[in-house]
Amino acid sequence: MFSTFSSGMFRLPVVVAIALGALAIFFLVYFKQPETWFSVSRIRPPPPAAEKAKLLPTPAITDPASQPVTAILLIWMWPFGYRYHMDSCKTLYGIDGCHLTDDRSMYNRADGVIFHHRDISGDLSNLPQSPRPPFQKWVWMNMESPSNSRQISALNNLINLTVNYRQDATVFVPYGFIVPSQDDDFVLPNKSKLVCWVVSNWNSNYDRVKYYNELKNHIEIYTAGNAFQKPVSHDDLLSLISSCKFYLSFENSVHQDYVTEKLYNPLVVGTVPIVLGPSRQNYENFVPGDAFIHVKDFFSPKDLAGFLLMLDKNDDMYHRYFLWRKHYKAKLTDFGLQQSCYACDYLSRRKEFKTFNNLDKWYWG
Ligand SMILES: *[C@@H]1O[C@H](CO)[C@@H](O)[C@H](O)[C@H]1NC(C)=O
Ligand SMILES: *[C@@H]1O[C@H](CO)[C@@H](O)[C@H](O)[C@H]1NC(C)=O
Repeated sequence: MFSTFSSGMFRLPVVVAIALGALAIFFLVYFKQPETWFSVSRIRPPPPAAEKAKLLPTPAITDPASQPVTAILLIWMWPFGYRYHMDSCKTLYGIDGCHLTDDRSMYNRADGVIFHHRDISGDLSNLPQSPRPPFQKWVWMNMESPSNSRQISALNNLINLTVNYRQDATVFVPYGFIVPSQDDDFVLPNKSKLVCWVVSNWNSNYDRVKYYNELKNHIEIYTAGNAFQKPVSHDDLLSLISSCKFYLSFENSVHQDYVTEKLYNPLVVGTVPIVLGPSRQNYENFVPGDAFIHVKDFFSPKDLAGFLLMLDKNDDMYHRYFLWRKHYKAKLTDFGLQQSCYACDYLSRRKEFKTFNNLDKWYWG
């Protein structure tokens, strides 16, 4: 499939095969005079130099326009150690000509090498130590907010492109997507709880903890997660969220575009997210404005609680939060894989020189 990338030891058989093929074509065209598909080549004979070029030991790079669009992306480390299938760019996202690999012996031929920020050691000792091929681009991937990402200044002059949840990243990959859907059979799941919150990291300085501490005085909140010594497995999380009318989609830190699976999970399962994060306007860049409630829509947590209690008694108003589902549905990003496929797609289309040398200022500035 990726024959143009096969290593040196395969070159000789390839050359022999091409030579034999060329001879066969030559023979057929000039001695058999076929009238089926070969008649096309009689109308437009190949330029005489073409046969000769095929016999050269190097791959034909004479006409870049005729080359298939391809790129090799080397996954240098698995993000958080999480492995994903590398052969799904085409089937899942319709991305052609992308070859993902974790085989480091491909380093010298990779168009790009992708590094996951959290797994890069501060002294860069786990990055490639051999010289970088001149055509190769280094891809920085990070889905954590700057508040939760260690600044590594040495990276500043090393990378060529960024893969991030920020809309102005070189390769923008949000935590989820709102995609068109004709599927009319969405049924609101049964609800046994009013407001729910699953949280792992408790930090009393976080805005979300301050807000929760106030909100819980005015409305009952079902809580779970490590912060409440009630761990919820990944598999149970979605069914728990779907059993709640509202879910607190409170981000751990507030940054432009930092809108995570905490928002998309409830949208996927049919629960109304109550968001705490960037502005409503920013959320509306990602999801329909009538699909969620923003804490800043209300003067105080007490006012929000009053509104939720009212919605609990008014099915008609509650159901309006699902009108968007007539035309759309929410989808979560496939962590790691989707970032790599999109980055590889970028590399396959954009071969030009590119640097990104203000990472510090852009991300942590
Ligand atoms: C909701 O509950 C009703 C009655 O308890 C049951 O018949 C129905 O199958 C449930 N629906 C879903 C989506 O679980
Ligand atoms: C990638 O970025 C580095 C660092 O700025 C630069 O030295 C290198 O030439 C760039 N490579 C390409 C292929 O753009």
